[in-house]
Amino acid sequence: MTRAAVLSGLGTALPPRLVTNDELSLRLNTSDEWIRSRTGIGQRYWTDRMATSDLAVDAGRRALKAADTDLVDLVVLATTTPDHPCPATAPDVAARLGLGPVAAFDVAAVCSGFVYGLATAAAHVEARLAERALVIGAETFSTILDPGDRSTSIIFGDGAGAVILRAGHDDEPGALLESDLGSDGSLKELIRIPGGGSRQRTTSADSDLASGHLTMDGRAVFRHAVMRMAESARTLLARTGWGPASVDCFVAHQANVRILHAVADQLGIDRDRTVVDLDRVGNTSAASIPLALSRAAETGRLMPGHRVLLSAFGAGATWGSIALTWPDITAD
Ligand code: COA
Repeated sequence: MTRAAVLSGLGTALPPRLVTNDELSLRLNTSDEWIRSRTGIGQRYWTDRMATSDLAVDAGRRALKAADTDLVDLVVLATTTPDHPCPATAPDVAARLGLGPVAAFDVAAVCSGFVYGLATAAAHVEARLAERALVIGAETFSTILDPGDRSTSIIFGDGAGAVILRAGHDDEPGALLESDLGSDGSLKELIRIPGGGSRQRTTSADSDLASGHLTMDGRAVFRHAVMRMAESARTLLARTGWGPASVDCFVAHQANVRILHAVADQLGIDRDRTVVDLDRVGNTSAASIPLALSRAAETGRLMPGHRVLLSAFGAGATWGSIALTWPDITAD
């Protein structure tokens, strides 16, 4: 029996404004049929006034309630859309949740952010640096989209999902068993926001507004996402000794339903064991895995003891996977 981080609470939050494919089709040269058939996305939620921290606090509060605790000693917030470039958003979230003077930091791994944050927090728990951790993925991608770019505007949605990790043992339901993280910075051009950093400053007089918008080479992202998620997940299956048939639930980053199915097919995992949530919320980047876990738990697809495989790919490029068993919890 080895010390391990154990998942003990799950909470989510979505902004109130529902944006349908039909609404986007009114101003972009696209259609509900195109979006559904090419991506699987049926709708998404966009924030009007809520900032990333507002969604993070909401999801965090629900996760704490679900875990029946108000004590953590670490807060990790995965986000691409912090409230400000400086400071990080996690300390503000921790303070607003009344968590006291805890360690709190942001993780920037874009759509792999939740997997990076979860693996990092689990390592803190395993190393006895923390007894309990709050890990949040929260995004407001609607604030960085070019409203005229149909290839990105249709894909991304806003939202947040949070989990509590507590110290426990690797034979308990809910234990995080293995993780794998990776990156390839030579692919940094695939998805990026050119301006706003030290390379291209937006404070200079000649800066243009468009440099703050997300750009994406969709076709290349598709190819790399399938390859890297499949490789990373395969690495974990080998380490855990789980065969593809023994994975009860495959919860991958919700990028595109065709990506999800291609990865599942490459791994030999039945498509019906692959959770699809992007029909409801689109691609919510770092929030997508906890939102998908919540959907799977609510619909009875996750049972205590189930073997769960998480996998993600994001800008950077970054990727990662985590193997865990499902705990006896309900999402709030
Ligand atoms: N509506 C209608 N047509 C669109 C469109 C839209 N929303 N977006 C792009 N198109 C057009 C393109 O302009 C292109 O037209 P052309 O052939 O006249 O040049 C055509 O559709 C095909 O474009 P292509 O990029 O090859 O489409 P695709 O099948 O690859 O789908 C994505 C585009 C973006 C949906 C797809 O590449 C994708 O999902 N990539 C991964 C994106 C992702 O997951 N990002 C986050 C990863 S973490």
